[in-house]
Amino acid sequence: MANFKNPRANRPHLRSVSITGVGSQVPDRVLANADLEKMVETTDEWITTRTGIRERRIAAPDEATSDLAVAAARKALASAGITADQVDLIIVATITPDMPFPSTACLVQHKLGATRAAAFDIEAACSGFVYALDIASHFVASHTYNTVLVIGAEKMSSVVDWTDRNTCVLFGDGAGAAVLQNRPNAHGLLTTCLGSDGGKAGLLELPAGGSACPATADSVSKRLHFLRMDGKETFKNAVNAMVAAANEALSRCGVTVADVKCIIPHQANQRIMSAVAERLDAREDQLFVNVDRYGNTSAASVAIALDGAVAAGRIRRGDLVLLVVFGAGLTWGAALIEW
Ligand code: UT7
Repeated sequence: MANFKNPRANRPHLRSVSITGVGSQVPDRVLANADLEKMVETTDEWITTRTGIRERRIAAPDEATSDLAVAAARKALASAGITADQVDLIIVATITPDMPFPSTACLVQHKLGATRAAAFDIEAACSGFVYALDIASHFVASHTYNTVLVIGAEKMSSVVDWTDRNTCVLFGDGAGAAVLQNRPNAHGLLTTCLGSDGGKAGLLELPAGGSACPATADSVSKRLHFLRMDGKETFKNAVNAMVAAANEALSRCGVTVADVKCIIPHQANQRIMSAVAERLDAREDQLFVNVDRYGNTSAASVAIALDGAVAAGRIRRGDLVLLVVFGAGLTWGAALIEW
C-alpha cells in the first residue's frame, strides 16, 4: 500500500468521505464505426486510428438522460447496500438535461423514490462528474449529509450534429453513479483539484437554446443547437490541463504516479489518454480504458469507467485511484482516492 499524506487530515472537524457504491448504465443500441460509414464520409480506419473508438451506445428516442441516470443510480445504491430513501442529496452532472428546467436531478429523485433527498444539477461538461464528487464530498465531510448520490449522465446523441463527421463519430450515451458516505477508519477522497478557463469557451460549445441565443427558426436552420468543437485546439488543451491537474493532486498527497494503482482518465480519445500517461510517466497498463466501446460520454465518462474498473477487479480496497478529466468550459480536474 502506498504511503501518502492526507491533505484533509489536518482538519479534524471534517470526516473522511468514501465511495461506498458504484453503478453504470449504457443504452442497448450499439452504433459501430461501420454504421457511421453509411451516415457521413468517414471510415472505420480513420475513427479507430485517430480516436480509438470502435463503437458507442445510442439511447432510444423515448430514453432520456434521467432514465439512464436512474438505472445507474439503482445499481450504485444496491452496491452500497442502501435504499433510495436513505439518500440525502442527489447531484446530477450533465450537459444534456431532460429539459432546461426542472433539473434532471429532481426527475431522478422522483423516479428513484428518494423521498428525503434534496436534488440539483451541475454543469461542467466532461469534467462534471469530478466537479460533482468534489461538491458532494463537502456535504458529507462537514456532517451536513450522510449519503450523497453523484451521477454523471448524458444523452449526447441528442446534441450531436449527425451531418458533421468532425464530431458525430466521437460521442455516445450513458450514465455512471457513485454513493458517497463516511466509512470509518478509511481515508477515501484525499484531494480534488479543479480548474476552468472561460476565455476558451468557444473551443467546444453548443451555441443556441440559452438566454444568449434563444431558439428561433433561424437558430434551428443554422444548426446552432448542435455541439461544435475545434478538435485540434481542444486536444492540446486537454493534454496540458489533465497532466497539470493530475500532477497537482499527486504532489498534494506526497505520492508519485507509480503509487497509483489505477488511473481513470476522461474517455475522449485514446491518443489523449496515451499522451497524458506518457507525460505523467505512467505505464499504459495503469490506465483504465473503455473509449473503444462507449466513445466520449461526457460527464458520464469517468463514472462509467470507474464502475467498469471496479467490476473488472482493477481496483481493490486501499488502492490509490486517480480520476482526471477535461471538458468544455474549459473545465478540468483530478481526484485522488484511497479506495
Ligand atoms: O470531451 C471533451 C474534450 N474533447 C476532446 O478532447 C476531443 C479532442 N480532439 C480530438 O480528439 C481530435 O482532435 C479529433 C479526433 C476530433 C480529430 O483528430 P485530429 O487528429 O485532430 O484530426 P484533424 O482535426 O486534424 O483532422 C484531420 C483530417 C481533416 O481533413 P483535412 O483538413 O486534413 O483534409 C478532417 O477533415 O481528418 C478529417 N476528418 C475526418 N476524416 C474522416 C475529421 N473527422 C473525420 C472523420 N472521418 N470522422
